[in-house]
Amino acid sequence: MIKFKNELPFVEDTSLYDIIKVCNTPFYIYSQEIITQKVKYTKKILGENIFFSVKSNSNQAILKLMNSLNIGADVVSIGELKRSLNAGFPPNKIIFEGVGKSKEDLIYAIQKNIRLINTESLEEIKLIQKLASEKNKMVNIGVRLNPNIDGGTISKITTGKKTDKFGIDINEVENIVNLISNCSNLNLIGISCHIGSQISNIDAYKNTFIEMKKAANKFISLGIEIKHVDLGGGFHVQYNKDEPQFKIEDMKKELDLCFNSSTYKLSFEPGRYLIAEAGILVTSIINSKQNGGINYLIVDAGMNTLIRPAMYNAHHDIETISKSSDNSLIYTVAGPICESSDIFIKNILLSEQNIDDILIIKNTGAYGKVMSSTYNTRSLPAEVLVNKENFAMIYVPEKIENNIGEDIIPSWL
Ligand code: LLP
Repeated sequence: MIKFKNELPFVEDTSLYDIIKVCNTPFYIYSQEIITQKVKYTKKILGENIFFSVKSNSNQAILKLMNSLNIGADVVSIGELKRSLNAGFPPNKIIFEGVGKSKEDLIYAIQKNIRLINTESLEEIKLIQKLASEKNKMVNIGVRLNPNIDGGTISKITTGKKTDKFGIDINEVENIVNLISNCSNLNLIGISCHIGSQISNIDAYKNTFIEMKKAANKFISLGIEIKHVDLGGGFHVQYNKDEPQFKIEDMKKELDLCFNSSTYKLSFEPGRYLIAEAGILVTSIINSKQNGGINYLIVDAGMNTLIRPAMYNAHHDIETISKSSDNSLIYTVAGPICESSDIFIKNILLSEQNIDDILIIKNTGAYGKVMSSTYNTRSLPAEVLVNKENFAMIYVPEKIENNIGEDIIPSWL
């Protein structure tokens, strides 16, 4: 994402140093151009029915951009629903899912007339029916099915096995149909699934498509008019050159083979695929030291800024922008948090770095800022959107003093 012009780093046509002048590190930068290209390409391959998975990056500037690119939003909480509406998504382009929606969440979604609520249990269907009848409304629902497929991704982000907490067992179609036939306020118009995130294995997609097609046919044979089959998200992004490369075109071939004569529309809920590669995390080196023969660079971003390496052992390449010396060294780049898991990368060869030099942590547009926290009482990171030679701060964190001020000390202390 960084391009060098006369040895100076740029994002699109904006100098990184111009951004650093007005924004304290650590902060995220997103490229509007890269997001736009990725969305357009994905639509070209998969068609118009794309719903951006808001959980991957919920900044309202990003959501407004996604909406302007004519895709919908896939939300999993009332907060994400409110953000998406605020950012201008029309209600009929928002789908609401999630394994734990509260009564208040469902009432809000029903009142807003969103496109569809994807339900994840028979109990939830009963609850939506009750709430819809109280409000005297007809509500469009989908059911998220659990196809019992192992996507072959890391266990913390797999969701499609029958023991996972997600969806309704795909063998329960008859029970669902029986229940729905007694729910006069519900229109069952779609089925969905999502077998996990970072799925590169084409066979896992293929098997999922086959199972979903069988399920759709079963619903149809039992008299339900299925209008949409939502095949989820999870498309793999290559964070590391050693990882297998996922080609969306290969997945599309399987899709066409499986669904060539179907009567319903197919839809998708990608998050990471649309935005991971459009983001970087910019961080400053605040200390360097040698411990046990390891050259540590301590940076001002930590696991509170980007938790993926600590939480999933995720790999994010790191790039330097200042080449202060011709020497190169093997470094371990770590954050300032008081935990040994607060390491971004081990044993990376970088040109020799000094305190105050800047490092770029790559491919952090998805599940970066949204998962950040104030752990160790540190500020959240800012966010910047670049559009050619323009840039704007799209999130300015509150001062840490405000966060400190939110604690309430009871009178007895
Ligand atoms: N649809 C559903 C129902 C989901 O649960 C998810 C992600 C998506 C779509 C979008 O998946 P994507 O296309 O972004 O892979 N925090 C983890 C990822 C968790 C994903 C949770 N569900 C990470 O940093 O890798």
